[in-house]
Amino acid sequence: MATVLAIETSCDETAVAIVNNRKVCSSIVASQIPVHQQYGGVVPEVASRQHLETINGAIAIALEQAEIDWNKIDGIAATCAPGLVGALLVGLTAAKTLAMVHHKPFLGVHHLEGHIYATYLSEPTLEPPFLSLLVSGGHTSLICVKDCGDYETLGETRDDAAGEAFDKVARLLCLGYPGGPAIDKLAKQGNPQAFILPEGKISLPDGGYHRYDASFSGLKTAVLRLVQQFEKDGQSLPTADVAASFQETVARSLTKRVITCALDYGFSTIAIGGGVAANSGLRQHLQKAAQTHNLRVLFPPLKFCTDNAAMIGCAAADHLNRGHTSPLTLGVHSRLALTQVMDLYQLVTH
Ligand code: KG4
Ligand code: ZN
Repeated sequence: MATVLAIETSCDETAVAIVNNRKVCSSIVASQIPVHQQYGGVVPEVASRQHLETINGAIAIALEQAEIDWNKIDGIAATCAPGLVGALLVGLTAAKTLAMVHHKPFLGVHHLEGHIYATYLSEPTLEPPFLSLLVSGGHTSLICVKDCGDYETLGETRDDAAGEAFDKVARLLCLGYPGGPAIDKLAKQGNPQAFILPEGKISLPDGGYHRYDASFSGLKTAVLRLVQQFEKDGQSLPTADVAASFQETVARSLTKRVITCALDYGFSTIAIGGGVAANSGLRQHLQKAAQTHNLRVLFPPLKFCTDNAAMIGCAAADHLNRGHTSPLTLGVHSRLALTQVMDLYQLVTH
C-alpha cells in the first residue's frame, strides 16, 4: 500500500498530490490558464517559468492538506513524458531532488498512463482488462489496458487530437483559450442538428472505412469553411449552433468508434480519460450508447479528467507496489508511446 507524492507539470497546470494507492490524500492544481489566455494558447517558455514559481508552494500545501510528513511517504513521482520539455523538467527535477534529500524511491510516470489511472480514483475496485478511450489535448487513442504498464493501442486519430480540434474550433469562433470548456458551455444554447459536419471517417484502400481510427482535421476545415461562408454572405455567425453541431459530431464520432471497438474485442467496461472526458456532449452520447449495448462506461470526476497529479500518484503507487522504480538519470521526453512505459522503470528486488 504505497503512499506517493506526485508532481505533474507536463503542460499548463502545476499539480501536486499525495495518494495512497487509489485514495487521494490531497490534490493541488494551480492552473496557468489566466496567464496563457492573453496569448490565446500555451506559451511553453512562460509555462516553465510559471511552474518554477509555483511548484514549491504547491508541494508545501499538498503535504499540509494531507496532514502527512515525509516519513510516511514511500516514493516521489513526476510526469516525465509526453509533454512540453521545459515544463516537464521543472516537475521531474523537483521530484528527483526530493527523492535524494529524503532518501525515497523516484518514479517517472507516463502522462497517458496517469489519465488511465484517473478512473481508479473513483472506481477503486476496477481491474484490467478494460478498454480506455483517452481524449486529451494531444492524444485521442483507444487503448487495451491489460495490466499496469501493459498497453496496446487499438485505434487513434491520424491528425488532430479531439482536444486540439476543440481548441482550434474555439479559436475560429473567437471563444478564447482553452476551447473545450468554452464550446461545451456555448453548445448548451445551440442546436446540435443545425449543421451537418464530417465525422472524420478514414477510407481503407480496399473499400469501406477504418473501424476505430478517425481524422478531425477535415472537421476543423469544415467549420472554417462555414465561418468563411457566413462572412462572405455578410451574415452574423450562429456561434452557438456551430459549437453545438461541432460538439455533437465529435461526440458521435468518438462514441461510434469506442463502442465498435468494445464490441469487436468483447470488452464489457470502457474507461474514459483526458480533458475531453469532461465534455457533457461526449458523456451523454457515450452513456446512452453504452446502455443500449449493455456496456459499463466510467468517467472520472471532472477534476480528475483534466490534468492533475492525483492520477500520476495513483499510477506511480501501482508501479512502486510492483517494485518498479526509475533511475535518477531518467530524462524527460516530449513524445513517448504508451507501449514503452516499462522503459521508464527498473525492477528493484529485495
Ligand atoms: O488532459 P488535458 O487536461 O491535457 C492534456 O493532456 O492535453 O486535456 C486538455 C484538453 C484541452 O484541449 C481542452 O480544451 C480539453 O481538454 N477540454 C475539453 C473540456 N475540458 C477540457 N474539451 C471539451 N469539453 C470540455 N468540457
Ligand atoms: Zn493530460
